[in-house]
Amino acid sequence: MTQYSRRDFLKTGAGAGAAFLAAGRLPGPAAREAAAAPPAGPVAVSSGNGIRATARAMEILQSGGDPLDAVIAGVNIVEDDPNDMSVGYGGLPNEDGVVELDASVMYGPTHSAGAVAALRNIKNPSRVARLVMERTDHVLLVGEGALKFARAHGFKEEDLLTEKSREAWLLRKETLSDGDFWFPPRNRTAPEALRSVLMTHGTINCIALDAAGRLAGVTTTSGMSWKLAGRVGDSPIIGAGLYVDNEIGAAGSTGRGEANLQTCASFRIVDAMGRGRSPEQACLEACQAVAAKTRLVPRLCDDQGRPKFGLDFYALNKKGEFGAAGLFPGGRYAVHDGTENKLREMAYLYKPGR
Ligand code: GLY
Repeated sequence: MTQYSRRDFLKTGAGAGAAFLAAGRLPGPAAREAAAAPPAGPVAVSSGNGIRATARAMEILQSGGDPLDAVIAGVNIVEDDPNDMSVGYGGLPNEDGVVELDASVMYGPTHSAGAVAALRNIKNPSRVARLVMERTDHVLLVGEGALKFARAHGFKEEDLLTEKSREAWLLRKETLSDGDFWFPPRNRTAPEALRSVLMTHGTINCIALDAAGRLAGVTTTSGMSWKLAGRVGDSPIIGAGLYVDNEIGAAGSTGRGEANLQTCASFRIVDAMGRGRSPEQACLEACQAVAAKTRLVPRLCDDQGRPKFGLDFYALNKKGEFGAAGLFPGGRYAVHDGTENKLREMAYLYKPGR
């Protein structure tokens, strides 16, 4: 597992990279070299909850399918799964007990994107995001407009709140304060399963490269649990929760969206890969940027000035190289490299206990 110190960060010349980004020189020499090299796919990369997604995506890629079909079919498995409480059906709701979903897709060959935010009652927001990309002149639809659009395309409306999610929401409401009128059951302690979901920001990202060198990506989520109604995270924001440049690579994120919205990490990561960084280095530089900006906000920092939240990044370049990094150790991500599908350890910014 890679550990990344500030010195290492400076050694990579990331500071110079920032100036390069400001100068807007894209794509760089590495991107041109990658674009000229023979394609190295198929490869599928996903967040740690996406091992079934990478398996499904690879089936489609290996049978000659399109990479956007592949990643969307992959994440649909997790959107449909009531046991993943960070995505789609069964996702944890907002503070009113209503599930609101965000998703984005991006397709490298046409450099096109689509997204939906704060979408209610439709369990596959990734498929709606794709239709926004393919069947409208827009990139992002939100709330009632997104639902109306989904209805127009024949999506079935359903209640996305499962019993488990409702119980978690109720438990949180009942235990939030002694100064309100909600009490938890006297004779019941919160089951461990519910305790563990009292505050989450999950999400699934899946990015893929096919044998013809086509890149695509998707990010889909129920967002931060107990959020204010209408809150939108990073997942549907192109450049934050997802970015794909067919000449360079693809990147996505999971974790605290607010931090990513303020650093546009997916764009940064693809940009860094375009300047020659490996996918892992590029993800670590994004972590470094998030950590640096978070130090300006004391309420989000621990007593050592480190972020009190989790945020993870995943990247895949045109050469088929992949990597991932998070702020803290212990994260894993899913990769199908065409031969085997497995969870791998992510690089991280902070050593344990420091
Ligand atoms: N990264 C998912 C969210 O914050 O909504």
